[in-house]
Amino acid sequence: MDAQALTKVWVSAHQSVTQEVQATLPVVEGEIPLDLRGVLYRNGPGRLAIGEHAYGHLFDGDGLVLRFAIGGTSSDSRPRIRYRNRFVRTRAFVHEERAGRILYRGLGTNLPGGLWANFLRLRFKNPANTNVIFHGGRLLALWEGGLPHQLDPVTLDTLGPYDFSGALRNRDAPWLERRISAHLPFSAHPKIDPATGELYNFGVVVGPRPRLQMYRVDRAGALQHERTEPVALEAFVHDFVLTPNWQVFFVYPITFESSPVLLGISTGMESLRPIPGRLTQVLLVPRNGGAIRRFVASPCFVFHFANAYEDEQGRVIIDGCRQAEYPLMPPLSRALAGQLWDMPLAYLTRFIVDPGAEDGSALSETQRCGQASEFPRIHPAWQGRANRYVWGVTTAPGMPYNLYTSLVRHDLRTGEIVQRQFAPWIPGEPVMVPRQGAAADASEDDGYVLTVVYHGQTHRSALHVLDARSLKTLCVAQLPHHIPPGFHGNFVPAAECPAGWAI
Ligand SMILES: [Fe+2]
Repeated sequence: MDAQALTKVWVSAHQSVTQEVQATLPVVEGEIPLDLRGVLYRNGPGRLAIGEHAYGHLFDGDGLVLRFAIGGTSSDSRPRIRYRNRFVRTRAFVHEERAGRILYRGLGTNLPGGLWANFLRLRFKNPANTNVIFHGGRLLALWEGGLPHQLDPVTLDTLGPYDFSGALRNRDAPWLERRISAHLPFSAHPKIDPATGELYNFGVVVGPRPRLQMYRVDRAGALQHERTEPVALEAFVHDFVLTPNWQVFFVYPITFESSPVLLGISTGMESLRPIPGRLTQVLLVPRNGGAIRRFVASPCFVFHFANAYEDEQGRVIIDGCRQAEYPLMPPLSRALAGQLWDMPLAYLTRFIVDPGAEDGSALSETQRCGQASEFPRIHPAWQGRANRYVWGVTTAPGMPYNLYTSLVRHDLRTGEIVQRQFAPWIPGEPVMVPRQGAAADASEDDGYVLTVVYHGQTHRSALHVLDARSLKTLCVAQLPHHIPPGFHGNFVPAAECPAGWAI
């Protein structure tokens, strides 16, 4: 299939979702594995326009959360998949739904009306559209620039913004910072330490005192402020990594032209640009509270890391999907007109840093695979450990950046890849689910991969269950409508689902 035909599929996939439904999904191919039990949650932009007004950027699309409860009752032991989707009822979503027009400025969307409508409007819409995670007994829809939104884990009803019992209130902040946000941001890529069950996360606070705010949330859901580190105003940190002893942050060579944003003549996303030739700063933050170590890497941008761990010599090994520079993403209207983003492809790259080296030393960097990949996921128990496998999406050579038509499993030990082509369909992020009841020494790829796939011909999506090792399809469950490919999600195994969930 050529790029033009696939672009049409991408454009079709990114129409707004208009239905909120609950249904038991028909299985149209294969069978649901008997040992796959639990709940998959996913999040992504589900509404991309209001009335006549399309949003300026995919990142501003309103969060649509999906819930796939895979299981069965004791009286009906046949597995089944019960599905539900709900928009996150953020303040902006509710107001704009009522008004039928855009009322809030987004990071990539200015209000209609030019300068006068956007001048000094610095409180951007929180679309709650990037990730969804169950931790500390709460289901949270995440967006990196603001508060999480708490959802009912069964009905997906929005319970409201969640500030961890006031712990994310932005107390004693300067006027300009409070004008931007009354709360501290809680990023969309938290990491759970499998040894303790604690969740680590961060937020980049913008304003006159730009800084990286780091958090730790205990198993019961109580948030502690770990530390604060000043960063440049233009720091755009989407993801980070966690090892037993370190938190690692990459701060990229990006410039931010704030004046046009303050004046309202350009959007926040339009004002971020790569700085050619400048190095990436890498911060190693000791989890025991010691001094931060600083290193450099080549100019690059990494939306997503796969994992990081420490080797026997104490070196920190970091695998991430590296782009050669920060990608400029044109307005969504151009993409929806068929001009997809011409961004540098991301390649799985290994960064190695020795914490014993001098501050300012360069990391070693090696591209691990010639096949581009994004949305990397690993076996959840290998978080912070020396993992062998990474699953991700990939695009065919010569295709625009965002035409992901395949899934790939990387074997980091042998360099081999297993690839599964879906074209003309578009698969989303692959979530790896370990086989329940597997022996402690089971292979790291013993389990399933769950992905929501957009089917171009029928304009509907389906949940695909694949064998994690071969990427062969085991089961396809048809949704009653389409879903744009979306961003991120997580699986809650049946053993960790509270009793009231009745999967
Ligand atoms: Fe992300």
